[in-house]
Amino acid sequence: MKIAVLGSGMVGNAIATKLVRVGHQVMMGSRTAASEGGQKWASAAGKSAQCGTFADAAAFGELVFNCTSGANSLAALRLAGAQNLRGKVLIDVANPLDASPGKAPTLTVCNQDSLGEQLQREFPDARVVKALNTMNCEVMVQPSLVSGDHNLFLCGNDPGAKQQVANWLCEWFGWKRGNLIDLGDISGARGTEMFLPLWLRLWGVMGNPHFNIRVVPRAEKS
Ligand SMILES: NC(=O)c1ccc[n+]([C@@H]2O[C@H](COP(=O)([O-])OP(=O)(O)OC[C@H]3O[C@@H](n4cnc5c(N)ncnc54)[C@H](OP(=O)(O)O)[C@@H]3O)[C@@H](O)[C@H]2O)c1
Repeated sequence: MKIAVLGSGMVGNAIATKLVRVGHQVMMGSRTAASEGGQKWASAAGKSAQCGTFADAAAFGELVFNCTSGANSLAALRLAGAQNLRGKVLIDVANPLDASPGKAPTLTVCNQDSLGEQLQREFPDARVVKALNTMNCEVMVQPSLVSGDHNLFLCGNDPGAKQQVANWLCEWFGWKRGNLIDLGDISGARGTEMFLPLWLRLWGVMGNPHFNIRVVPRAEKS
């Protein structure tokens, strides 16, 4: 499959590398075709890997991952172009973190809205599925880094798109189907994005980023 990975940071690298490894053709997108991050990744990842602008990548991909800085994702996806996203599944991995130095973790959008909802409103013809944003990028593509069962949340307005994304995450990244939790429509992104400040604190407490949430059901009545 031809897949666009918008974003040349550590998340774009982890996802794009895994997708090439499992047999896909991947184009990484950046603000400029000659971005250092994109070129470095493409030359290391082999012949199924290439890089270009956000628009080049979005036009190339049958499926699009948004791995851009969440505070700038709307700008990045406008550069990708609504016409290049039309009808496509857009997996939104971004968190709208305000990364201003010296500031406690703060989101640029929360409570009555979320980045996932903003993207779906701005690109109504894209099939936005929010997923993977509640864990470190190495865990996203290799869930066995965390011991035992642990959960991945997804949400979006298009049930068919969510079903496809669930299948791909299991087949390509190794997630167990029983560990996927569908939170419903795209407003579920509010909760998964607002988990970020707690995730960042937990990272400090745990001392490494390879941990995840496990949702435990109530005990059987005895
Ligand atoms: N790190 C993790 O493990 C993790 C886990 C879960 C979710 N996330 C989320 O995943 C996303 C990617 O994280 P990351 O650490 O890999 O990368 P990042 O540094 O947050 O974002 C890098 C990408 O954002 C683009 N970008 C930056 N400023 C921009 C602007 N003003 N306009 C348009 N595009 C802009 C960059 O474009 P260029 O390529 O042109 O430089 C680059 O492709 C973030 O939203 C993050 O919150 C991260």
